[in-house]
Amino acid sequence: SAAEKGGYDYFMLKEIAEQPKAVADTLLGRIDAAGSLTLDEVRISPSELREVDKVVIVACGTAFHAGMIAKYAIEHWTRIPCEVELASEFRYRDPILDGRSLVIAISQSGETMDTLMALRHAREQGSKVLAICNTNGSTIPRESDAVLYTHAGPEVAVASTKAFLTQLVACYLVALYLGQVRGTKWGDEIRAVIRDLSQISGEVERVLETMEPVRSLARSLATKNTVLFLGRHVGYPVALEGALKLKELAYMHAEGFAAGELKHGPIALIEEDLPVVVVVPSPRGRSVIHDKIVSNIQEIRARGARTIVIAEEGDEAVVPYADHLIRIPATPTLLQPLVASVPLQVFACELATARGNEVDQPRNLAKSVTVE
Ligand code: AGP
Repeated sequence: SAAEKGGYDYFMLKEIAEQPKAVADTLLGRIDAAGSLTLDEVRISPSELREVDKVVIVACGTAFHAGMIAKYAIEHWTRIPCEVELASEFRYRDPILDGRSLVIAISQSGETMDTLMALRHAREQGSKVLAICNTNGSTIPRESDAVLYTHAGPEVAVASTKAFLTQLVACYLVALYLGQVRGTKWGDEIRAVIRDLSQISGEVERVLETMEPVRSLARSLATKNTVLFLGRHVGYPVALEGALKLKELAYMHAEGFAAGELKHGPIALIEEDLPVVVVVPSPRGRSVIHDKIVSNIQEIRARGARTIVIAEEGDEAVVPYADHLIRIPATPTLLQPLVASVPLQVFACELATARGNEVDQPRNLAKSVTVE
């Protein structure tokens, strides 16, 4: 009913708008007064966590994209090797796991059959399983050793939005907590990032306030057949997620690529007026990746692409090559997906509406996939 949608036309719009609160709720009670993480619910002891020599993340769809981003964070802050794999692939090879492997299963619903089967397989090999889940008491957390709940509240729209942002927050918490427990050389950075994370809900809110140009851009592209998405580093999974949203909602051909792969094939797809969304990493931090993506934007624009550039406020280097520029607030490099994903959600939702599609219930899709 209209009341359930809180005055919005679709649950998806309501859930997009709820993201600042969802992100804040997922952080609530998990950072103490001294600015350290207290993840009591992770019932795997600090000494066990210090023994972990490999992290393996399993998930499907949007949750898999959250896992891809988590890999960058975990390897950076903990120096533990981390693999991330689609749950449906993981189960059917012979993954090498033992008692020192920590398996993280990410699932909004907690009922996705492929993810459940993957975690059962991991536990049979003696690995500890930590679930990141949004649904209290669902099967995946019940069958895991520990659970870190995302507090996004119920997500009704089939296309995941607030659950994704809170999965990212939970993944950062796990990465930072592992770093904290194991005492890596990144201690100061970890403390600084925890501070930034505690402010991030306000940044998400700021992004939401500036979405009107994104909506009108989306409407202007309603008759296009294809949109490409490019990113590097954590912007690569953001590009994949942007493409997934467009497939689900707008039923358009959409592909996400690592920008560095362009010259290995995808650049052949570029033609006059093809919309290409580029997620630009911060020019601060790792400026090499930033410079590389600016050249990628130049390359595709020289071949006629219509460039839609998502870049940090104050990043002037992209201005000459952006046909459309979407600004996001400056954040630490690894946290950028929390703000960069939001315009892509709004973009896909508006395109779906402009194309007359059913936003909350896209064709052929179910909210949780409880079959193999
Ligand atoms: C997200 O927009 C999708 N509907 C889908 O990819 C989803 O993320 C996937 O099915 C995993 O679901 P889960 O998080 O409930 O396990």
